[in-house]
Amino acid sequence: METPSLSIFDPASPQAEAIRSLSMLVLAICAFIFFVVEGILLYAIVRFRRRAGSESSAATEPPQVYGSKPIEIAWTAAPALIVFVLVLVSARTLWEVDVDPPAPEVGDNALFVTVVGRQWWWEYRYTHYNGRERQFITANELHVPAGSKVYLALQSADVCHSFWVPRLAGKMDLIPGRTNHLLFQCAQPGLYLGQCAEYCGTQHAGMLLRVYVDPPETFAEWVDREEKPAVEVKSLGDEKKVFLAQSCVNCHRVRGTAAQGTYAPDLTHLMSRETLASGMFKNTDENLRQWVKDPQKLKPGCLMPAFGLSTLEQDQVVRYLLALR
Ligand code: CUA
Repeated sequence: METPSLSIFDPASPQAEAIRSLSMLVLAICAFIFFVVEGILLYAIVRFRRRAGSESSAATEPPQVYGSKPIEIAWTAAPALIVFVLVLVSARTLWEVDVDPPAPEVGDNALFVTVVGRQWWWEYRYTHYNGRERQFITANELHVPAGSKVYLALQSADVCHSFWVPRLAGKMDLIPGRTNHLLFQCAQPGLYLGQCAEYCGTQHAGMLLRVYVDPPETFAEWVDREEKPAVEVKSLGDEKKVFLAQSCVNCHRVRGTAAQGTYAPDLTHLMSRETLASGMFKNTDENLRQWVKDPQKLKPGCLMPAFGLSTLEQDQVVRYLLALR
């Protein structure tokens, strides 16, 4: 699968830009300290090495200095000054990046999404766009409009996770029982990848993030589509019946049908997503079939078991899922 940049040195939002500037400054200061310390060390090693013909080491030891006030003041003041500068610039960056979300307002063009971290996937509950209330839930692929402020409210349904899309914003943890906030604003349409950044169990590494920054018109169309209930395909009546008769419906939701589970990804517009299993596989017919047959083979440890469907039932369920556009 494609691998766009995951580097913090390639920022695509003012928030990520602020973090890059801070990182560069900290790196520069640390590099300076490193070269000064290593330089003095190397100088001492070369200058005071044991030479051929020199007597015992005690005889060539340089004069020992005890209690030099100027030296002690210098090596206390210099690090204190450096730490002070680092605290100030870090605080300034935090100030820029860590913004409390305002109340949604018509005309603000801002998007508000509640992100729920789950073992091992992401739930996205869209709540407001441009001041209007939105009510739909999707999973694993976050769509946002280019140029708009995006306010994420981060929560967890189980253990600690961490939302990290390096080119868009800093890391922010999702902690059970509380809500954290994250803001980013990206003008450049494209796909931005990330990764859960807090160890959260077996499939932590399989908890990938995909953020699609869409041109505003494309985003508005996407929102309109996502808000609608699932399309009803008349010719798939039998397939739908088979799907609704399985345990799928206890965990998954397909809006507009009797499937109203909330524990697993919302499948209402499953085929509008490019990937399966939180970004691990392309969403193709074949992968979908393998997933329905035995998810444990594709993502060992994931919370969906194999249900032992017959080949015919698998066919029917997959045909039904493929129609959820
Ligand atoms: Cu979720 Cu690591």
